[in-house]
Amino acid sequence: MCGIVGAIAQRNITPILLEGLRRLEYRGYDSAGVAVLTDDEHNNADGILRVRAVGKVIELENALEATPAAGHLGIAHTRWATHGKPAERNAHPHISGSLAVVHNGIIENHGPLRKKLIGLGYEFVSETDTEVVAHLIAHYYAESQDLLGAFRTALSELHGAYALALIHQDEPHQLYCARMGSPLVIGEGSEEHYIASDPLALLQVTDRFRYLEEGDHARLNNNTCEIWDRDNKSVNRELKRYEHAAFSMEKGEYRHYMLKEIYEQPQAIRDTLSGIVADDHVLTAVLGPDAEERLGDIENIHIVACGTSYHAGLVARYWIEGQAGMPCTVEVASEYRYRTVVVPKNTLLITISQSGETADTLAALRFAKDQGYLATLAICNVAGSSLVREADWRLLTHAGPEIGVASTKAFTTQLVALLWLTTALAQVRGKNADVIANNVKALKQLPEIIEQALTLDTRITTLAERFASKDHALFLGRGTHYPIAMEGALKLKEISYIHAEAYAAGELKHGPLALVDENMPVVSVAPGDSLLEKLKSNLEEVRARGGQLITFACETIDQSEESNHEIISLPWVEDCISPILYTIPLQLLSYHVALVKGTDVDKPRNLAKSVTVE
Ligand code: F6R
Repeated sequence: MCGIVGAIAQRNITPILLEGLRRLEYRGYDSAGVAVLTDDEHNNADGILRVRAVGKVIELENALEATPAAGHLGIAHTRWATHGKPAERNAHPHISGSLAVVHNGIIENHGPLRKKLIGLGYEFVSETDTEVVAHLIAHYYAESQDLLGAFRTALSELHGAYALALIHQDEPHQLYCARMGSPLVIGEGSEEHYIASDPLALLQVTDRFRYLEEGDHARLNNNTCEIWDRDNKSVNRELKRYEHAAFSMEKGEYRHYMLKEIYEQPQAIRDTLSGIVADDHVLTAVLGPDAEERLGDIENIHIVACGTSYHAGLVARYWIEGQAGMPCTVEVASEYRYRTVVVPKNTLLITISQSGETADTLAALRFAKDQGYLATLAICNVAGSSLVREADWRLLTHAGPEIGVASTKAFTTQLVALLWLTTALAQVRGKNADVIANNVKALKQLPEIIEQALTLDTRITTLAERFASKDHALFLGRGTHYPIAMEGALKLKEISYIHAEAYAAGELKHGPLALVDENMPVVSVAPGDSLLEKLKSNLEEVRARGGQLITFACETIDQSEESNHEIISLPWVEDCISPILYTIPLQLLSYHVALVKGTDVDKPRNLAKSVTVE
C-alpha cells in the first residue's frame, strides 16, 4: 500500500527514484510523484521541484519529460488512495514551505491535527492525512530551526501507521526517514544512501540493507547513516545482504509478472526445500538448534493470516490434524486480532504471509504476544520483514520476489513449508515413519510434477475463451481441495473481475445449487482421493440442472465427458501434495480468463500488493 523511495548521492538521483517507483508500483498505482532538491549543476536553480501525475508511474515519467527534475537528493511515492481520491492534489510528495514529505500508512489522528494546524494558519490543499505531517514538521521547524528536533516532535504527535521520508531545502545534504507500523529499509551504496518501502525497489543500486525497527527514525547523508530508536537513543541496525537476488526482477520473455511467477513455481519449491529435507525425513535444524525439543512441546496450533495466505493455512489444518494428530484452528487476522481468544496450554501461533508486512497479520502477531502462547512462528517470503523479525521462530519460503498482485508462487511455497512443518511435527511425535518418508518423497517430486501441469497452459487457454463471457462462477472442492477451490475463486475475481464463490462440494445442495443453470460454470477440483465418489455425486447434481461443469481431475479416474462436462486431467500424485498440484491449473485459468477480458493482470483495479493499512 503505497511505495516510498528516496536517495541521496553525488550523482543525479531522479533515475534511481523512477526505477524504484516502477519496481514498487505493485504497492499502489493510482498516482505517483517525486520531489527533488534541485541545484545549480542540474537545474540552474535551488529549491524543491515537485512533479506529480495521476495514474501509473509511466504518467509521471511523461510529466518528467515535460518538467525535468534532477538533483542529488530526492523522494518519490506511488500511491494507493486511502484519504482523498486519486488526484494530482492528493498525490505525494506533499509540501509545506521549504520541505517535502512522502508517507505510507494512515495517520489516525489527522482530523484533530488538521484542525490545530488550520488554527495556526496553515492552508490545506489536499484531502490527505499526509499533508498534516508536512505542516506539522514545518510548524515545529519554524519555532526551533532544528529539523531533527522538529521531525521528532511531529512524530511524537502522530497516531497510526507510517513510513515517512522528509527533505528540506535548508539541509540539502540530509535525507530523513522514520517508520512505525509500515515498512522502510535503508540501502547502502558507495557514498550513497537510499530508502524504500521494499528492498526490491533498490536492487538496481544495492543489495545491502538496514531494516528499520518500529519507532526508528534516521538521518542519512552520502557517507553517514544515523539511526535512533523511539526513545531517541542512537542505535545500530545491522547491515544485511538481500537474499532473493537469484530471481530476476524483470518480466523477461513473459507477458506478465503473474505468468512468470506461475512458471517459476518449480524452482521456488526447489529453493524452499533446499537444505530442509533429507532422504526419508525432514531436517528440523532450520528452526534453531533446539528445534526438536521446541516442536516436541507443542500441543495445539493456531494459524492466522489474510487472503491467499489464509487459504494456505486452511489446507494446513487438514494436514496437521490428519498427520500430526494435533488440534489446529485457522482464522483471518482481521477477525482474530479483535476478539477474545482462548489459548490452550502449549499452543504455537503461526502467522503466514508473503510480504511479512500485512497490517492485520502483523497486528495479530503483536496481539498474540500477550495471549500466553508457547511461541510464535512466522512463515514468510521476505527475510527482513517485520513479521519475521518479530516472531520467535521463522520458516522462510524462497519464492523470490513476487510482483504480480495476485499471489501465486508465494502460495504454493507456503503450502510446501506447511507440509514440511506437518512432517516435522509428525516426526517429533514419533508418528508412522512411512508417512514421513512418503511426504518427503512427494515434496521432492513436486517441482517436476508442476512442470508437467504447466503444459496444460494451451488447453486452459481455449477453455478460458468460453469462460470469459460469464458473469459468475462456482468453485467446488472437498477436503484439502476445498481451500484450493477458495483460492481458485479468489484468483478469478481478483484479476478477471468475474464474481466467483467457492463451496465445500457437500454444501451445494444446502443453498448454492439454486444458482445453477446453463449460464453458471462450475469448476471442480477432483483428485483421485478417498472423497472422489462423494464429489462425483455432487457434480451430478450440477449436471442435472444444466450447469457447465469444468473438472480438474486425476488422470486415473473415469474420463468419459458428457455434453456439458469438460474434464482436464492432471497426473496422479500422493494425496499430501495434491492440493499444491491442483492450484496450478486454477492459476492458469484465472490468468487466461483475465487476458481474454483485457484486464490489467499484474495490477488489478482497487488492489495493491502488501496491504500495510488496516
Ligand atoms: C491474493 C493476495 C492477497 C494476499 C493477502 C495477504 O492473490 O495476494 O489475498 O494473500 O493480502 O498478503 P501477505 O501474504 O503478504 O500477508
